[in-house]
Amino acid sequence: MTDSPTPDATGPRGPHETDTADTEALRRRALAALLTARERTTLLTESVDDHELSAQHSPLMSPLVWDLAHIGNQEELWLLRGVAGRPAMRPEIDGLYDAFEHPRATRPSLPLLAPTEARAYTAEVRGRALDVLDATALHDDRPLVRSGFVFGMIAQHEQQHDETMLITHQLRAGGAVLTAPVPPPAADAAALPSEVLVPGGPFTMGTSTEPWALDNERPAHVRDVTDFFIDTTPVTCGAYQAFIEDGGYTERRWWAPEGWAMVREHELAAPLFWHRDAGQWLRRRFGVTEAVPANEPVLHVSWYEADAYARWAGRRLPTEAEWEKAARHDPASGRSQRYPWGDDDPAPDRANLGQRHLRPAPAGAYAAGQSPLGVRQLIGDVWEWTSSDFLPYPGFAAFPYREYSEVFFGPAHKVLRGGSFAVDPVACRGTFRNWDLPVRRQIFSGFRTARDL
Ligand code: AVJ
Ligand code: FE
Repeated sequence: MTDSPTPDATGPRGPHETDTADTEALRRRALAALLTARERTTLLTESVDDHELSAQHSPLMSPLVWDLAHIGNQEELWLLRGVAGRPAMRPEIDGLYDAFEHPRATRPSLPLLAPTEARAYTAEVRGRALDVLDATALHDDRPLVRSGFVFGMIAQHEQQHDETMLITHQLRAGGAVLTAPVPPPAADAAALPSEVLVPGGPFTMGTSTEPWALDNERPAHVRDVTDFFIDTTPVTCGAYQAFIEDGGYTERRWWAPEGWAMVREHELAAPLFWHRDAGQWLRRRFGVTEAVPANEPVLHVSWYEADAYARWAGRRLPTEAEWEKAARHDPASGRSQRYPWGDDDPAPDRANLGQRHLRPAPAGAYAAGQSPLGVRQLIGDVWEWTSSDFLPYPGFAAFPYREYSEVFFGPAHKVLRGGSFAVDPVACRGTFRNWDLPVRRQIFSGFRTARDL
């Protein structure tokens, strides 16, 4: 017998001896998703010095070094202990990185791992996790392992925290440390209709077949909606400025009561990160101050602002079911597709995802990513607020832990759909559901509006 050295985390890895073509593809996909996530995590945590890594940039957010070690801790919990049955590496730190034990605002005062330790711990977990991936048969009957679910779940978890860390970067004071090329233009935007008619009738919402779909996206079920119109693109900064200029933030009649209370208490007058200078709207974006671009989807608005804008415009937010029908229904086949453009995975010409650009693309971009009915930018660019509360689908079963989704169900949280420029394709699908409190505006949130026929 020869010793088998611990494989290098980035080295070539072979298929498992029990792999079929299907499980080999899932294994490759899992490995690629884990490596892509770690590249992003590394970029986000290496672009600031150790002092900034440990600092709290906003009471809404954790120090970046907390996200880093939490990513490693969740990976240890689910892959090393859960799947491989390994003992805890550092049982004393579990509580520190349990999101339910310590609210974000209190995390800086915890005895967190210092940057050097956090990096070493997270890297050590990853090395062992890749060994577990190599050694695990993916058609294992355990639901956690079947189709490589837990590896996909861990890659999605890391990417969700990479989006969270990008929000922290946006909130930090000081000059730019991240750069990215500008997104593509919207070549035919002027020729687009402002709205699209989506025919009523039943369609399949959610999924029972997408291997890495999370518990709240399951199961597939039939939903009925009546005919409705939906905006072709997300609402732009220019359109939102018209709402502001028309006294949007000063007229109570446009606002839900709690929204009006928020406007008054915090003296809101524009999206987060906007300010007016000599009659011009400017915004701060990742350490740079620039003119607000009129043709870009509006970003950093709360649900209450989206709701008020829609009422001012004589419209309403789409329900979550309407959003998903617009995004997935193919009238020609009657099927629900994985994405607006079909069943193929996202590609750079179809959607602005994965932090390739650090802003949304102009409204009307990504013609190749439009839905069969011609609705654009449903995937990527900005998370879109819907009018719906975050609720379980009929037949929902919490998996693998209640704290991922179930404890958040109820009227306190509103659903956002479609993903932003900051989310990786692995954590974004036509069925993917995000949620947040209706007052939140530091997230990469925008919206589109709808109306009845
Ligand atoms: C689905 C984005 C609301 O960040 O709170 C991360 C994702 N869950 N770690 C969040 C999540 C556990 C979650 N959101
Ligand atoms: Fe988490």
